[in-house]
Amino acid sequence: MKNTLLLLATLGGQSAAQTLYTASYAGSVYSLGLGKANGTLALSTQSQSTECGASPSWLMLDGANEILYCLNEAIGASNGSITSFNTHGNGSLDVIHNLTVPAGPVMSAMYSAPGVHDHQFFAVAHYETSTVTTYAVDPIRGHFKLLQTFTYNMSAPGPNAARQDAPHPHGVTVDPTGRFVLVPDLGADLVRIYYINPVTGHLKPIDPYVAAPGSGPRHGTFWTPKGSSSTDTNVYFFLVHELDNLLSGFRVSYTERGIHFSKFFEESSFGNATATAPSGSKVAEIAISPENNHIVVSNRLDNTFGQKNDSIAVFSCADASGTSFTGVQFLGLYPAYGSSVRGFDISGKLGLIGIALEGSQKVAVALWNKATGRPGKLLAEKAFDGDIPAVAWEL
Ligand SMILES: *[C@@H]1O[C@H](CO)[C@@H](O)[C@H](O)[C@H]1NC(C)=O
Ligand SMILES: *[C@@H]1O[C@H](CO)[C@@H](O)[C@H](O)[C@H]1NC(C)=O
Ligand SMILES: *[C@@H]1O[C@H](CO)[C@@H](O)[C@H](O)[C@H]1NC(C)=O
Ligand SMILES: *[C@@H]1O[C@H](CO)[C@@H](O)[C@H](O)[C@H]1NC(C)=O
Ligand SMILES: *[C@@H]1O[C@H](CO)[C@@H](O)[C@H](O)[C@H]1NC(C)=O
Ligand SMILES: *[C@@H]1O[C@H](CO)[C@@H](O)[C@H](O)[C@H]1NC(C)=O
Ligand SMILES: *[C@@H]1O[C@H](CO)[C@@H](O)[C@H](O)[C@H]1NC(C)=O
Repeated sequence: MKNTLLLLATLGGQSAAQTLYTASYAGSVYSLGLGKANGTLALSTQSQSTECGASPSWLMLDGANEILYCLNEAIGASNGSITSFNTHGNGSLDVIHNLTVPAGPVMSAMYSAPGVHDHQFFAVAHYETSTVTTYAVDPIRGHFKLLQTFTYNMSAPGPNAARQDAPHPHGVTVDPTGRFVLVPDLGADLVRIYYINPVTGHLKPIDPYVAAPGSGPRHGTFWTPKGSSSTDTNVYFFLVHELDNLLSGFRVSYTERGIHFSKFFEESSFGNATATAPSGSKVAEIAISPENNHIVVSNRLDNTFGQKNDSIAVFSCADASGTSFTGVQFLGLYPAYGSSVRGFDISGKLGLIGIALEGSQKVAVALWNKATGRPGKLLAEKAFDGDIPAVAWEL
């Protein structure tokens, strides 16, 4: 409660509202302002753009350079696209560049190469077309061009034939040393791994991590001790599997051009090794808390808090200072305030979690309790005319 009052006071005193970007499958990207209206917090539309195409699926914000990259999944169409926008303090979005790409892009991440000084890179997972693409990007201007395309196939469907008819790259994560790109592939039950050539920035595929048959790896995230940079010791990797709703934890070790995973933990995303996930539920997103001591996982279609009221699971992994790894322990399930949490973004600075409620077609903002490292009460929400796959806080 104290946190909430503090937040209201802070936001109330600001001239500009706090900005939250969101994407809607109805074909729009929005910048929303979170501010006080008549004494209560509310989300209002600052700007709306239809220039990311028909099915915006993922937002990658480069806050330092004030550029927002948007992926257009182009559901049902033959090509997808990627659009970059300049962001502004007043929330307006100006298109910089638009590129046609293979259909089905769903997640991207930025990386760099020590020998390349004038540009960076990003990789994109294309679910629908079994493809991973990479781009060279001028991070200051927001222009980018295609660099590499990797397309995969399988000789036979996986155990879950309906979802594993083909490879389906679903996530992109860069390791903490900045030397490897990981792509969980839901269709092939693999985490594809690429070594970043330090001189050219080109990706070189190396041996993948092989996940359990039918598990459907979706998204992953790394934990390293708070304050450490480019470390290769004390590194842990966490992976959620959409098809069997499991969270796995790995100790990570390195060789000169290799990254290795040793599994030490696996539990339901409902937090109990013996618990079965509610029928039809599908884990979606994973992140390390801003305090660096918890693993936060979103469940979809589990109705844990009532009809169309899904859950966010929290697991501890480090001490309160976020510097010592403690092993993984389930802490509980917290309400998502709607259905099918496809994505979320936690701001430690604001003490807020933005929640993309795909099934409820709305965005919710709830308190992020920094002291307990868990989501708290609902502060504001806003409905849209399409499914909401992504949210991202400005800053
Ligand atoms: C504030 O309250 C007034 C009076 O009830 C109402 O007319 C107005 O629309 C409200 N403003 C907002 C931004 O909700
Ligand atoms: C970018 O390309 C997509 C797909 O062709 C299109 O729908 C969208 O309008 C384009 N945006 C701009 C700014 O040209
Ligand atoms: C928002 O800010 C940008 C950059 O300062 C400016 O070009 C644009 O006109 C502003 N838009 C509105 C609606 O005020
Ligand atoms: C557009 O889609 C077609 C058909 O899948 C594909 O062959 C082509 O490479 C795509 N274009 C781009 C620029 O990715
Ligand atoms: C996919 O299958 C085709 C035809 O069987 C083969 O030529 C190609 O090398 C395969 N590609 C990969 C990436 O395995
Ligand atoms: C784990 O789940 C089982 C079956 O649902 C239940 O009986 C048990 O109490 C749970 N244990 C904990 C620690 O939640
Ligand atoms: C979801 O559950 C929480 C906790 O019981 C409750 O506060 C909230 O009102 C429920 N419904 C929705 C749609 O948020």
